[in-house]
Amino acid sequence: MKIAVFASGRGTNLAAIIKAKSKGLINADIALVVSDNKKALALKKAQRAGIKAVFVDPQRFLTMPEFENEIVKAVEAEGIDLIVLAGFMRILSSDFVSRFQNKIINIHPAILPSFKGSQAIKDAYEFGIKVTGVTVHFVDNEMDNGPIILQKAVPIDEADTLETLESKIHKVEHKIYPEAIKLFIEGRLKIEGRKVKIV
Ligand code: GRF
Repeated sequence: MKIAVFASGRGTNLAAIIKAKSKGLINADIALVVSDNKKALALKKAQRAGIKAVFVDPQRFLTMPEFENEIVKAVEAEGIDLIVLAGFMRILSSDFVSRFQNKIINIHPAILPSFKGSQAIKDAYEFGIKVTGVTVHFVDNEMDNGPIILQKAVPIDEADTLETLESKIHKVEHKIYPEAIKLFIEGRLKIEGRKVKIV
């Protein structure tokens, strides 16, 4: 099995996935990292780990389909079985999603369907909820919406600041994303409508 990780930023989830592979938890080849951000630390982390790292410059393309087509070419050239979105700050088109149907997963730093969007940790913190968490889900045509693979709760304590909450959330992300990837690779995820059964 071959995995591609798409990331726009720091790449701490990518690093956790690389670590899980080196520990033998993930039995797959992390064959490709794609970023839309030249400065993404994720690209550096990939290179350091000897993974093919591709920067696809959105500025080079006039339209979104052309930009995505470049990504499709890179993914298909590697024969990728699973696309792992790890802080990829772009919404993929329905064409892209249907081309790789049920083969794209995402991690979101909240308990979906609450607090969708790019500011989820801050939104949850400011809302004053007492429990938030992390969701790993399949990607469908709506943002932060597809069938849920794993969720893990993270309590928000009175002493928490936004920063301490962020670090609690990231710690959980780094644990459950590799777990979800492992389940996918082992063929243990069965999608039934909105539900994902772990078999
Ligand atoms: C994570 O918090 C993830 O939940 C969200 O984007 C962030 C990516 O962080 N989708 P990193 O680049 O993996 O450090």
